[in-house]
Amino acid sequence: MRGVTGAGLRAGMSVSAIDPALFRSTMGHFPTGVSVMSTRDGEGRPYGITVSSFASLSLDPPLVQWSLGCNAFSYPLFSKARHFAVSILADDQEEVSRRFCASEDRFAGVMHEEGLFGLPLLDGALAWIECELVNEFPGGDHAIFIGEVLRLRHWQKEPLLHWQGKYHRLSAQGSHNFADCGLRAGSSQ
Ligand SMILES: Cc1cc2nc3c(=O)[nH]c(=O)nc-3n(C[C@H](O)[C@H](O)[C@H](O)COP(=O)(O)O)c2cc1C
Repeated sequence: MRGVTGAGLRAGMSVSAIDPALFRSTMGHFPTGVSVMSTRDGEGRPYGITVSSFASLSLDPPLVQWSLGCNAFSYPLFSKARHFAVSILADDQEEVSRRFCASEDRFAGVMHEEGLFGLPLLDGALAWIECELVNEFPGGDHAIFIGEVLRLRHWQKEPLLHWQGKYHRLSAQGSHNFADCGLRAGSSQ
């Protein structure tokens, strides 16, 4: 197969022969932002999870998408929830990102506001997007959630980035000239 480096895909090999570690590290070369997706469970308790799969999907109607592992504790919560919120993390929120994939009570001591339907919106984020869950599709071992945007706000802040398993920030020089900017490595995940 032309143009494939490292993947080791040869004629007769099935797609499932792709090495999971290689898949993970290759996809890790794609830089992303970091967001906390949040909702409330049936008893009204807030719940949140750090994701990098969040993306814009459609302008008309305004739709966003993200994916969640089907084995995640929070999968049934987000699947049943009628609404979810996105807090896009700013570059000084690495600790928030770590917190929302840890096992402790994730909202304990975390300043947040209540949005539509009581959705938790994290203070200090660079954007909040409040959504109605309109669709869920299977995506291998993940589920793809589609949300219709009901309300959004953003602030002039720099984003927290995730690239090659580590957190990064945009350089102080700005991001328009690649030669001048680069990525400033933070600590590892
Ligand atoms: C930077 C980063 C990005 C992540 N992106 C995703 C993602 O897009 N989808 C996902 O299911 N898990 C993602 N995770 C892992 C989840 O945050 C983690 O498995 C989750 O918090 C487990 O929570 P739960 O089992 O309580 O639902 C990511 C973790 C980090 C640190």
